[in-house]
Amino acid sequence: MNRKYRKTVIAGNWKMNKTPSETKEFMTAFKAILPKGRWCDVALCVPAVCIPTAVRAMRETRVGIGAENMNANASGAYTGEISADMLTDAGCKYVIIGHSERREMYGETDADVNAKVLTALNAGLTPIMCCGETLEQREAGVTMEHIAMQIKMGLRGVSEDKIRKVVIAYEPIWAIGTGRTATPEQAQEVCEGIRAVVRKLYSSKNARAISVLYGGSMNEKNAYELLAQPDIDGGLIGGASLVPEKFVKIIEAANQPTE
Ligand code: PGA
Repeated sequence: MNRKYRKTVIAGNWKMNKTPSETKEFMTAFKAILPKGRWCDVALCVPAVCIPTAVRAMRETRVGIGAENMNANASGAYTGEISADMLTDAGCKYVIIGHSERREMYGETDADVNAKVLTALNAGLTPIMCCGETLEQREAGVTMEHIAMQIKMGLRGVSEDKIRKVVIAYEPIWAIGTGRTATPEQAQEVCEGIRAVVRKLYSSKNARAISVLYGGSMNEKNAYELLAQPDIDGGLIGGASLVPEKFVKIIEAANQPTE
């Protein structure tokens, strides 16, 4: 983390978990133990049907609610899809874009991710744009090439004045939901590499100001060490964001002193 230059963001990704009733229960418990005082930005990205409940519950707090996906088109004949305007009108501040599960299971391409990032920014949403390599790519030594390509394609057409609104999440696919976390050094190396790509595409100032999160089995035990790395500005948390006590411990880890 480097709080002098950029925001620390702790974001939960509930995936396909919790009903609206369970969301209400979670929010009541979460609100009761939410750390007071100086803390990082906190986001909870929840299933679409849980958004109204989550927004209502978190209204008086600094926790921003987000969606887990959206359609790049403004409106029209896209059965089952949800637009950026629907999300902002429902009270969302964030949207996860290009999660590896969507890329792998629903065939989302870098071009789709790019279109969604542009739409989200235009609507005033903060996109949490995900990238990450497979185990095969890591073992073949092409991690950084792959990530650089995802970042360059994903950010195409994002203007100088909007780039700082984008949050990038580095999530090695082999670490998601597996309990196998990247080591702090591995995660730092790629997050630093991502910042270097942004520097090349934009400027040093923009690269310094953008928040790069790590995701993949981040939990209340390993968060402190991961967040102590200079280029890891927060986390995108799946499993551990489903339990209020665990999620709060990660928020507390984000409040650790930095130089
Ligand atoms: P995990 O998921 O924390 O359960 O590994 C992270 C993610 O997929 O965003």
